[in-house]
Amino acid sequence: MGKDGLQVAIDGPASAGKSTVAKIVAHKFNYIYVDTGAMYRALTLAALDQRLELTNEDQLIELLRQITISFQPASAGQRVFINETEVTDEIRSEIVTNNVSTVAALPAIRRALVARQQELALAGGIVMDGRDIGTTVLPRADLKIFLVASVAQRAKWRYLENQQKGITTSLKTLQAEIAERDYKDSHRATSPLRKAPDAIEIDTTSLTIEQVCEQITRLMIQKANEF
Ligand code: DC
Repeated sequence: MGKDGLQVAIDGPASAGKSTVAKIVAHKFNYIYVDTGAMYRALTLAALDQRLELTNEDQLIELLRQITISFQPASAGQRVFINETEVTDEIRSEIVTNNVSTVAALPAIRRALVARQQELALAGGIVMDGRDIGTTVLPRADLKIFLVASVAQRAKWRYLENQQKGITTSLKTLQAEIAERDYKDSHRATSPLRKAPDAIEIDTTSLTIEQVCEQITRLMIQKANEF
């Protein structure tokens, strides 16, 4: 535990509810919430804007040096900026979502972003969500949670989320996209998505957001009492 509280790692596949619950529990404990996927997404957006080849690691590292990716806490979680421009919504666009795994698979990009994430977590009092937080970014995190849910259920949640935003997508397409992202995230050579041996797995398929948050809250209180 750092001077500001626990380091909590929340990992799992796409659309299992990680960011939703991470935001809620961070707020409850007055902790900082860091969505590490947003860093990979912001870099992907900047690379697409500049029409760079997404597999060209040298060019992307150079781009990462030129831009500043920053976060500002907000009631809905966090606002994301590239330099002075807010990109909170743009980084969730279909084109970024379908290209981000390619960028996130580049070892030099991961090294650079992992170093930034580790700096953010130094003092503790943090809930960080991603794919490799418990395994690579914070292997000594006080609490590691691994959220899973069936592909069908995750596609359904994504479908409803899109519907609320006025986006119409077919459930079948969403299922295929989620399955493809799962495959890419868990088969890349550098820190693939996998459960840390000491992580606690929660299957959210038939749980409500409130129930998942309750379980994590209980575990956080238990952990904090150990110190
Ligand atoms: O959680 P998300 O959907 O915003 O993540 C976007 C992509 O970034 C996803 O394909 C996996 C990747 N990612 C990663 O490789 N490591 C992280 N710590 C966070 C996200």
